[in-house]
Amino acid sequence: MKKIGLVTSGGDAPGMNAAIRAVTRVACSYGLEVLGFRRGWEGLLTNTFNQLTPRNVGGILHLGGTILHTSRSPEFKEKEGVRKAAETLALNDVEGLVVVGGDGSMHGALALSNETDALVVGIPASIDNDVFGTEETIGFDSAVNTAVIEIDKIRDTANSHDRIFVVEVMGRLRGFLALTIGLTVGAEVILVPEVPYTLEEIIRTLEVNGAKGKKSGIIVAAEGIGDTHKLLKEIAEGAGVEARLSITGYAQRGGNPTARSRLLANLFGEKAVDLLKAKKGGRMAALQGGKIVSVDLNQVCSNTKQLDLHLMRLTQILAT
Ligand code: F6P
Repeated sequence: MKKIGLVTSGGDAPGMNAAIRAVTRVACSYGLEVLGFRRGWEGLLTNTFNQLTPRNVGGILHLGGTILHTSRSPEFKEKEGVRKAAETLALNDVEGLVVVGGDGSMHGALALSNETDALVVGIPASIDNDVFGTEETIGFDSAVNTAVIEIDKIRDTANSHDRIFVVEVMGRLRGFLALTIGLTVGAEVILVPEVPYTLEEIIRTLEVNGAKGKKSGIIVAAEGIGDTHKLLKEIAEGAGVEARLSITGYAQRGGNPTARSRLLANLFGEKAVDLLKAKKGGRMAALQGGKIVSVDLNQVCSNTKQLDLHLMRLTQILAT
């Protein structure tokens, strides 16, 4: 193998740049040439890339976002788009491709892997942490920390005003972010799409807390549960409390990656290049039981990662 490609795809995640740096430098240490395709799958559809070298990926380790840029490509979701991407790889004599992204990108990586002679490997990077087969994705820890810093500040004003705050966090249709953030800010209530809840239960919790003298509180809600504006109104009216909504939003996607996100990026980057060097395609670098391993992309794409419901129960015990 002489030449590999690299692409960052889907929502950006803090640590993607660290992964670009790691893949490039490890690959170059093996004498491989690295092409960085621009704007996610779009770069493979339009044959747009930069040559990546150990020098031109300098100074990016600590930066959020992705220097290659990213996008969500409707065209690549079609069979014709995947075929075009495969042609681009062949045209440029690219024998291996590293795809850095979340769940959707891993599905794209599998589709492309089935269409091309090049070996395709994935690196899981998403703030949502919803990729099956790996305990953690690059960027998750950074997004959790960003939200925790913000909610700690919200706690100050909640306490001062005896107010209830509903804080909406990202995570698409899954509750991994909400659960870890909720546990680590000491939330009184966590709402995630995976666990059914009723308005009555929320109100009851607030009433029980109120009777104990706890007049303020934080309700961490995953964006996937639906309309938090409506929920806020219902809580305020139902519990007779002063309540406010705060949406953490896209700030969670940006900012400097934490040391943990950088560490994963470095280790996944090395693993991905090693997989290509060993001629193993159709796989994804992953974290399992504290070890860096690889999993079959078919497995990644045909299973759904489960939420650790124990953390939900623990949060309730700790928020007394
Ligand atoms: O997948 C990462 C994520 O930030 C989700 O948490 C969120 O639902 C989604 O992307 C937003 O997507 P977009 O960037 O297309 O608005």
